[in-house]
Amino acid sequence: MQTHPELDALSPIMNILGVVFFAVFACIQSIDALDFRGLHSLVQRRLPQHAKDFTFEALPEKGDKYIVGDTVGKRGAVTISCTSISACSRGLYVYLTDFGGVDIWWTGSRLHELPSNLPPVGKPVTGDAVVEIRYHFNTVTFGYTTAFWTFEKWSLLLDWLALRGVNLPLAWIGYEHILSEVFHDTGLSDTEIASFLAGPNFLPWNRFGNIQGSWGGNLPTQWVEDQFVLGKQIIQRMVELGMTPVLPSFTGFVPRALATHYPNASIVTGGQWSGFESNLTDVSFLEPFDPLFAELQKSFILKQQAAYGNVSHVYTLDQYNENDPFSGDISYLRNVSSNTFSSLRAADPEAVWLMQGWLFFSSSTFWTNDRVEAYLGGVEGNDTMIVLDLYSEAQPQWNRTNSYFGKQWVWCELHDYGGNMGMEGNLEELTNGPITALQAPGSSMKGVGLTMEGQEGNEIVYDILLDQAWSSTPLKVSDYVAQWVSRRYPVQPLPAAAQKSWQILSTTVYNNKDPNSQATIKSILELSPALTGLVNRTGHHPTLIPYTTNTTILPALKLLLQASDVSSTLRNVPEYRYDIVDITRQLLANSFVDLYRHLITVYNNSTSSHEHIMSTGSNLVRLLGDLDRLLYTNENFLLSTWIADARQWAGNGPRANTSYAAYLEYNARNQLTLWGPNGEINDYATKQWAGLVGEYYSQRWKLFVDYLAGIKQSGQPYDATYISRQLLAIGQTWQVQKWRGTKGQSWGTKGDTFDVVEEVLRAWA
Ligand SMILES: *[C@@H]1O[C@H](CO)[C@@H](O)[C@H](O)[C@H]1NC(C)=O
Ligand SMILES: *[C@@H]1O[C@H](CO)[C@@H](O)[C@H](O)[C@H]1NC(C)=O
Ligand SMILES: *[C@@H]1O[C@H](CO)[C@@H](O)[C@H](O)[C@H]1NC(C)=O
Ligand SMILES: *[C@@H]1O[C@H](CO)[C@@H](O)[C@H](O)[C@H]1NC(C)=O
Ligand SMILES: *[C@@H]1O[C@H](CO)[C@@H](O)[C@H](O)[C@H]1NC(C)=O
Ligand SMILES: *[C@@H]1O[C@H](CO)[C@@H](O)[C@H](O)[C@H]1NC(C)=O
Ligand SMILES: *[C@@H]1O[C@H](CO)[C@@H](O)[C@H](O)[C@H]1NC(C)=O
Ligand SMILES: *[C@@H]1O[C@H](CO)[C@@H](O)[C@H](O)[C@H]1NC(C)=O
Ligand SMILES: *[C@@H]1O[C@H](CO)[C@@H](O)[C@H](O)[C@H]1NC(C)=O
Ligand SMILES: *[C@@H]1O[C@H](CO)[C@@H](O)[C@H](O)[C@H]1NC(C)=O
Ligand SMILES: *[C@@H]1O[C@H](CO)[C@@H](O)[C@H](O)[C@H]1NC(C)=O
Repeated sequence: MQTHPELDALSPIMNILGVVFFAVFACIQSIDALDFRGLHSLVQRRLPQHAKDFTFEALPEKGDKYIVGDTVGKRGAVTISCTSISACSRGLYVYLTDFGGVDIWWTGSRLHELPSNLPPVGKPVTGDAVVEIRYHFNTVTFGYTTAFWTFEKWSLLLDWLALRGVNLPLAWIGYEHILSEVFHDTGLSDTEIASFLAGPNFLPWNRFGNIQGSWGGNLPTQWVEDQFVLGKQIIQRMVELGMTPVLPSFTGFVPRALATHYPNASIVTGGQWSGFESNLTDVSFLEPFDPLFAELQKSFILKQQAAYGNVSHVYTLDQYNENDPFSGDISYLRNVSSNTFSSLRAADPEAVWLMQGWLFFSSSTFWTNDRVEAYLGGVEGNDTMIVLDLYSEAQPQWNRTNSYFGKQWVWCELHDYGGNMGMEGNLEELTNGPITALQAPGSSMKGVGLTMEGQEGNEIVYDILLDQAWSSTPLKVSDYVAQWVSRRYPVQPLPAAAQKSWQILSTTVYNNKDPNSQATIKSILELSPALTGLVNRTGHHPTLIPYTTNTTILPALKLLLQASDVSSTLRNVPEYRYDIVDITRQLLANSFVDLYRHLITVYNNSTSSHEHIMSTGSNLVRLLGDLDRLLYTNENFLLSTWIADARQWAGNGPRANTSYAAYLEYNARNQLTLWGPNGEINDYATKQWAGLVGEYYSQRWKLFVDYLAGIKQSGQPYDATYISRQLLAIGQTWQVQKWRGTKGQSWGTKGDTFDVVEEVLRAWA
């Protein structure tokens, strides 16, 4: 084991002085071999009973390699040797999963369930990463999933990442503190800066230059300061766990008032985004060839280094995400990227520029190959950039851009829009795709990564890609799934029905070859009701269900339930309970589509009466009530968690700041529903959460059914404008509603999952 007694003595001081810690840490990493203290802390955190049983040792080679074996001369102990912290972490994961039969999930860590007598390894097991980079996060995950998290939730996810071998996570938290300081130095006032920053869970789009300002009130300074404290903790933990955080930089997006302070600065408008009114979008962009750009970049990066230490040279920087450049001239694009990169290098001589490649897909008409080549080509060298090929599993762009003209790029899985929850995946593509891309002639692919917009469910499709990073041949999906299931439900012996259930899912729902319905399937129950246009949507927000529910979801659910009839201890496994709720949720969501179709057929029929529509429509509302009851039985499906997480930043109990809490709650609710003050991106980040389904979606559908029945009676024509205004008004009211106390709903779970599932099957299957 590597120890550094001289540093251990310092550690209390280092915990206080994060800056000192990082300076020393970085130094140790380079002159000495590897500092394993972060991994020992992870073991202590997750497997305290085995704190002394794991030894880590450095191997002198390069790359990411590990060897896992029994500790010589010590029974029930394991030694992991490696060439990097990340490889040792991965080696530990291989031991815990393959030998220990336990795992760490988004739903919680079960690593402490490792047998008390550690299973022996026998012949040592080795592994190598087949790619240098294992990346995690989309800029918008910080809005859709982690926006309101405290360090406790972060700690679980960071351990999840480290153990799976991620070594390059994005780290946006705390950005606004440093950015505001940079702006202050230019003479901008607090008010001018505040009018630029977006709401807490909308900051990603402010960082992208899509929006500015916060509806419902300015972003409080307290938020900015609290996030800065959190950001330091997160970055410190990432570094300890052998990950290189990808840090923010100065992008060029500035408060409008900068033009007043610098009348000669080259400032252009980023463009109108997603129907927002001008004062919330049309963000000012300081052009990178203006000397002020380089000045602000240097100021930003030096302040950031002072805050976090010299922990990374990789910078995230997106200028044209869903915003086309001011000019499409080849020379302009080359000029912009060339000057942007020079500004980074002037501030950090080893800077590497990382960018999300979404624009090359979403604005592919603008981004012709010669424009892509000019923009990337403005940056000299190939190791100077990392492009995230953001949606490789369905809409790869590397293959039309000559492997990004030689720049390093990462094969990324997008999969999820807005944290939507429909079950979907293409396991075959997630195993074959990256290997094919790696082996393509002239490939400059350097990594794989997860760039989901939100993390909600479907955990298997994320696991498999990070595991594929350690296998030079495509993983065999059926074997993979079997092993995954047996550690997800660590019950001995695991009833065969559980495996059969997942065999069905993995060969159908998770074997989606339809290019038009890739990414989580959105359920129409979450959409604003309408006569047409809801079902069978394809493309960006598919509602087309690319499998037959009766032969997939339904038998899979029945088999999974059967498994716990055989082995009742399964019902105590949190991931089993989660999956039962999730699959039942999907069954109900899909059944809703049939009910909706029936309703419209009845409505379209001129002989149908008011009563017929009411009775047909009542089924839709009844189903939503049952879905809400189901979701209420599990802590992972609660709207109240999202809201409580938001409100906690305003303090808890009698010391809470109620106006701040209300602001946070409004932002939290707004994103799920209207996404913008007036429904600009209505129903994008929908969720099937208890409270949201029962209070909001079901209210909208009830209004719709009543309306259809009403006009049948009155003989008035269907008025699409009228009904959508009424539905929007429900949204506007729901935004500002206080959760606590309304309709007697509690904040926690209620009801028993298995009772509700039984009723659901009786009523709807
Ligand atoms: C509550 O929070 C708001 C927004 O941060 C702030 O303006 C106000 O001063 C706070 N009130 C108290 C009593 O701290
Ligand atoms: C801006 O440019 C004008 C014309 O070139 C010049 O007269 C003026 O001094 C400049 N202002 C600043 C603040 O640099
Ligand atoms: C934006 O402008 C509109 C009027 O065009 C105004 O009603 C609204 O309050 C403004 N919003 C913000 C955030 O300033
Ligand atoms: C940061 O670390 C690099 C080596 O990784 C070194 O070249 C550089 O001088 C350091 N910068 C500072 C500000 O310490
Ligand atoms: C970029 O454009 C600016 C403004 O037109 C010009 O002054 C500058 O020389 C150009 N720089 C490069 C590297 O082409
Ligand atoms: C790139 O690959 C995707 C997915 O296989 C395919 O649909 C697309 O046509 C390919 N593009 C080119 C230019 O080959
Ligand atoms: C970058 O990659 C391209 C394409 O493989 C190659 O033509 C070019 O020479 C490389 N540039 C450098 C500086 O290595
Ligand atoms: C949607 O697709 C399903 C199956 O492909 C088909 O049966 C149904 O008629 C379609 N519905 C509409 C409204 O297009
Ligand atoms: C699915 O099964 C149910 C009950 O067995 C049946 O009512 C329904 O028509 C089936 N749906 C399809 C699309 O086959
Ligand atoms: C109902 O009528 C509308 C409008 O005429 C039509 O577009 C739609 O396809 C019909 N739907 C069904 C399910 O009959
Ligand atoms: C309309 O409803 C009537 C009564 O239920 C039924 O007999 C008829 O077949 C329906 N017409 C159509 C076109 O579905």
